[in-house]
Amino acid sequence: MPIGAVTRGTTNTNRLRRVDRWIQTLPILRSSGDPLVVDLGYGASGVTAFELQARLAAVRPDAEVLGLEIAPERVATATAQLKDVRDGRTGFAPDARVGFAVGGFEVPLPAARRAAVIRAFNVLRQYDETEVAGAWSLMVGRLQPGGVLVEGTCNEVGRVSSWVAVEHAGPVSFTVSLRLSGLEHPSIVAERLPKALIHRNVPGEPVHRFLVELDRFWQHNAALGTYGPVQRWVATVDGMREAGWGVSTPRRRIRLGEITVPWSQVAPAA
Ligand SMILES: C[S@@+](CC[C@H](N)C(=O)[O-])C[C@H]1O[C@@H](n2cnc3c(N)ncnc32)[C@H](O)[C@@H]1O
Repeated sequence: MPIGAVTRGTTNTNRLRRVDRWIQTLPILRSSGDPLVVDLGYGASGVTAFELQARLAAVRPDAEVLGLEIAPERVATATAQLKDVRDGRTGFAPDARVGFAVGGFEVPLPAARRAAVIRAFNVLRQYDETEVAGAWSLMVGRLQPGGVLVEGTCNEVGRVSSWVAVEHAGPVSFTVSLRLSGLEHPSIVAERLPKALIHRNVPGEPVHRFLVELDRFWQHNAALGTYGPVQRWVATVDGMREAGWGVSTPRRRIRLGEITVPWSQVAPAA
């Protein structure tokens, strides 16, 4: 039996573009001898798995995506979509290296294979906080050496997104990615934090301080908004760095509305 529970299958075309762009930059994707990427819990349609493969193929042409779903009827739907793709009835490449199977947090894989990357998006959101560590551990156990689990949450249209990167040694980073145009305050992401953090956005918790400071620098740099929200965000992230946050986001990615900091700076207080 797959490990986990069937939850709502909500998904959307292009919803996961922000995290996909980030996954494109992971070193394991380039270095792996077997660039197998798992899309765990792809939902009521396989569209985000096809999109993931298309985006990854741009940087690693032999990247292969295996969509796993705990709900068998969703595997049947995605398999029918795959036939349309193969028959050239969609915008995706007919020979796209994509497959679908039933599976849960145990991440069943073909013999002797392990995943370079597992993307589990909007899956744990519907679980209890106490279930996160066990789910992470099961999924990370199915990664190649140097592999990464990317577990996070976003809004329905993918404009507000955040995720944790988890490696064999444990969680390593936390990323927020926001559509800057029309952004009122970065702490909008509070509603879309990964399960491990969403209940920790309260005074005294590191992630709360992170969001308070993001808002503070965003406000402080409001005048830069006349040059556009990107300039304002760049200054906001510079402010975070100067305030001691270990921002690892390169300049060109900051301009996309991203900020990545070490997990140790936002991890729940003991
Ligand atoms: C809200 S949808 C997310 C769809 C897509 N990943 C997205 O972000 O648009 C969550 C999906 O995860 C599936 N799911 C929940 N627990 C799972 C598990 N342990 N293993 C595999 N799939 C799971 C649910 O059946 C559901 O279809």
